[in-house]
Amino acid sequence: MKIPLFDLTRQYKELRNEMIKKIDETISSGVVIMGQNVEEIEERIANYIGVKHAVAVGNGSDALVLALQSMGIGKGDKVITTPYTFFSTASAITRLGGIPIFVDVGEDFNINVDLVEKKIKSDKSIKAVIPVHLFGKSVNMEYLKSVCDRYGVKILEDAAQSIGSEVSVGGKRVKTASIGDAGILSFFPTKNLGAYGDAGMVLTNSDEIADKVKILRVHGSHQKYVHEEIGYNSRMDEMQAAILNVKFPHLDEWIDKRINAASKYSELLGDAVVCPAVPKDRTHVFHQYVVRTERREELREYLTNEGVGTAIYYPIPLHLQQCFSFLNYKPGDFPVAEKLSKESLAIPMFPEITFEEQKYVANTIKKFMEERS
Ligand SMILES: Cc1ncc(COP(=O)(O)O)c(C=O)c1O
Repeated sequence: MKIPLFDLTRQYKELRNEMIKKIDETISSGVVIMGQNVEEIEERIANYIGVKHAVAVGNGSDALVLALQSMGIGKGDKVITTPYTFFSTASAITRLGGIPIFVDVGEDFNINVDLVEKKIKSDKSIKAVIPVHLFGKSVNMEYLKSVCDRYGVKILEDAAQSIGSEVSVGGKRVKTASIGDAGILSFFPTKNLGAYGDAGMVLTNSDEIADKVKILRVHGSHQKYVHEEIGYNSRMDEMQAAILNVKFPHLDEWIDKRINAASKYSELLGDAVVCPAVPKDRTHVFHQYVVRTERREELREYLTNEGVGTAIYYPIPLHLQQCFSFLNYKPGDFPVAEKLSKESLAIPMFPEITFEEQKYVANTIKKFMEERS
């Protein structure tokens, strides 16, 4: 059996006719930049997440930069984030001349909010925090928000992997990307809602932040050829927006299928490896299903030989990346992130995965463990 980590083709088979029709309509309309599709997906996602504004941009990495800049982060500003995330969470800070301040994660892969509180208390110059809802599960936002509100620290939620996931805040269940001063999404093709190219979005309830992101995405101008700011070219194109509009009505159904598949994996795997846990106050949308084992490298090779796709998110924590050496972190600074980077392994997860395929993946993992015990 061959089971890929992720399979875009199965979803496309279902949507092909509708997709081709929508793309044809879009090109035939003659408007391929900043048209009706972009407006439509902005409105749909703003309603879905439960925020006043959604501003579509070129990709999730730019969404982070444009949001941070619109929140007033700039040269020399300190921004706390996790060393256990995709590169661009931290590079967004440095792209604006800011300073990433890493804080270790907990065993659940998300930033340790106790340590964030400690850092904020000890350094009054911290301007903002970027929590990352890694693999599709929210950070403890109730706690993080109470700390940040107390000290006047801003929050930008990196919800690139967590569209649709919820968490309890103030007695209400709310969606990630709606809790901080702003939030971002990525629609990279492999994401739970993916385009067929690059696309991203900034979400916020602030008129001021939304307006600033809107001008930054088009060279810093409200009016063509009149530039108030030095902005960027970072628009979501109409084709990607059209694709997202075809896919969006299926999002919740796809998330349910992921959640279903995740609970089957956890049942099938038992204690062969450490499976992801889901606290009661949150929904995990399983962008990735990541297990842990001290035998990660051997297991990965074994799975590859047996036809099972895997990936390591992430093999090198950001504080140990060469490009961030100027920040002067060293091995041992963030022991949990360093341990997780050696133990984590993502196994196949996508809405269309079959129970037969899941059984094969789980049995192969169990066989490996048995052979070595
Ligand atoms: C946590 C996180 N933040 C930011 C991004 C950046 O998104 P994009 O690839 O759309 O630039 C990603 C995408 O992989 C991500 O996983």
